[in-house]
Amino acid sequence: MMNEKVRELLNQQINKEFYSAYLYLDFSNYFEAAGLDGFANWYKIQAQEERDHAMLFYQYLQNENQKVTLEAIAKPDKVFACHLDVLKAGLTHEEYVTSLINEIYAAAYEARDFRTMQFLDWFVKEQGEEETNAHDLITKM
Ligand code: FEO
Repeated sequence: MMNEKVRELLNQQINKEFYSAYLYLDFSNYFEAAGLDGFANWYKIQAQEERDHAMLFYQYLQNENQKVTLEAIAKPDKVFACHLDVLKAGLTHEEYVTSLINEIYAAAYEARDFRTMQFLDWFVKEQGEEETNAHDLITKM
């Protein structure tokens, strides 16, 4: 049996990842309107990656015979003053996602849920890469 707190956090992460996808589509939309096709395309690809992340959590819970509950996805409602603001918001968001992954990892560790820890290992590494990419984009801009 999976620990209930671990299950709940994994379930919440499905929503967080879909929200990330929605947020990055919004960023893509911003850059499309600004005529910066490369940045728009980058965030469209990030949105696809976030949908993939959401599905990994969804599938993991189903594979473990755990209940999945889907919640409403929040509206991305940030207004940006300049291009750099968008990229900075991207970095801040990835740092937030890293904190969420760490929180699930800590709960799994506490519950001695080694299978979930192993599942999360990929995300720990992925978050390192995504923070680096977000930093690099700010430098490029
Ligand atoms: Fe799914 Fe960009 O973290």
